[in-house]
Amino acid sequence: MKISQRAQSVPPSATIAVTARAKELKAQGVDVVGFGAGEPDFDTPEYIKEAAIKALKDGKTKYTPAAGIIELRKAVAQKLARDNGLKYAPEQVVVNIGGKHSVYEAMQAVLDPGDEVLLPRPYWVTYPEAIKLAGAVTKVIETDKANSYKITPEQLKKAITPKTAMLVLNSPSNPGGFMYTPDELRALAQVLEGTQVGVMSDEIYEKLIYGDSKFISFAALSEDAYNRTLTLNGLSKAFSMTGWRLGYTAGPLDVIKAMCRLQDHMTSNPVTFAQYGAIAALGPEADAAVEKMRVEFEKRGKFMAERLNSIDGITCAEPTGAFYCFPDISAHFGRTIGGAQIADSMEFATALLEQANVALVPGAPFGCGDNARLSFACSMEQITKGLDRLEKWLAQ
Ligand SMILES: Cc1ncc(COP(=O)(O)O)c(C=O)c1O
Repeated sequence: MKISQRAQSVPPSATIAVTARAKELKAQGVDVVGFGAGEPDFDTPEYIKEAAIKALKDGKTKYTPAAGIIELRKAVAQKLARDNGLKYAPEQVVVNIGGKHSVYEAMQAVLDPGDEVLLPRPYWVTYPEAIKLAGAVTKVIETDKANSYKITPEQLKKAITPKTAMLVLNSPSNPGGFMYTPDELRALAQVLEGTQVGVMSDEIYEKLIYGDSKFISFAALSEDAYNRTLTLNGLSKAFSMTGWRLGYTAGPLDVIKAMCRLQDHMTSNPVTFAQYGAIAALGPEADAAVEKMRVEFEKRGKFMAERLNSIDGITCAEPTGAFYCFPDISAHFGRTIGGAQIADSMEFATALLEQANVALVPGAPFGCGDNARLSFACSMEQITKGLDRLEKWLAQ
């Protein structure tokens, strides 16, 4: 059978080779330290599991409306009002099968072939693929270390053309945990006023923020921002529910209705009993459950960034959110370490894994070949052990 051009256009994940090799080594009994994880290492809080178990026992095992049960859409609307100061009717919320699905479906709902989507670099690896699958064209906006990997209003203004349909924002970000301040977001929102550009604001790391960082939803900046924004979020990261596959999108009613129509035919509803777990997750126990994990992540992120900065030829900004460090490792490019030539982040990651048994994710697939992503969703012991190995390996 032939493979469609659409499927052929999607490359295998460039990060998978390293992850697969790490698994292979582990299976052979090698003691690999893994910094690749994109998920919290905590278990889902007990009260959430109990709600889903109860739902199963109560027979909540059948189809629900494709957009999710109304109780959950209400719970999401209440969460967005309480935490983010956003007023959405439950009908303006669609529950998706994970945040990744939210991204895909939102793009399918609003993008046409030839539309341009502005994507600040570095970016989460899924965005360019979802843009391409919607027939649209990615226009990368460059950022660098000097501006903390954030775009400026001037850059945004310059990047907008008559074909620009969407700006993708992800703050706090994967891969760097970089975060825009409310004033920085306000300045970006002002540039968009009077334009046709919509915003997809992926706020999935909203709850995992550190130091004196302040989170604000893009849609909460002004009435204009509210009207042009799709707010994406999910339960994977904040509640350690990656396997539950629950994300959600809120926004203008006509766009949400269009997403619901697509969802009707693509997936139908998110898993029924998982939706009851989500209602519990977003309920009164939410803040305490999240705070426990946030505090632990904050300690680890600070520690990891400090340790990375103490290693020769590595510089790393302290993450302000999410659970990733994204150090610049490029000072080591051009070296030969343990017989392996290191020309780029892929070769760096491969050699480090083979020789020192530390797995990290090369920065190239995130659009930043000078960097590497290290997740601190692992214990302090693992962080210490892995960075000791990295330091020793680089000191050769
Ligand atoms: C920026 C960002 N958005 C969305 C997601 C989607 O997460 P999920 O599909 O597990 O909800 C991820 C997961 O890695 C992410 O990093």
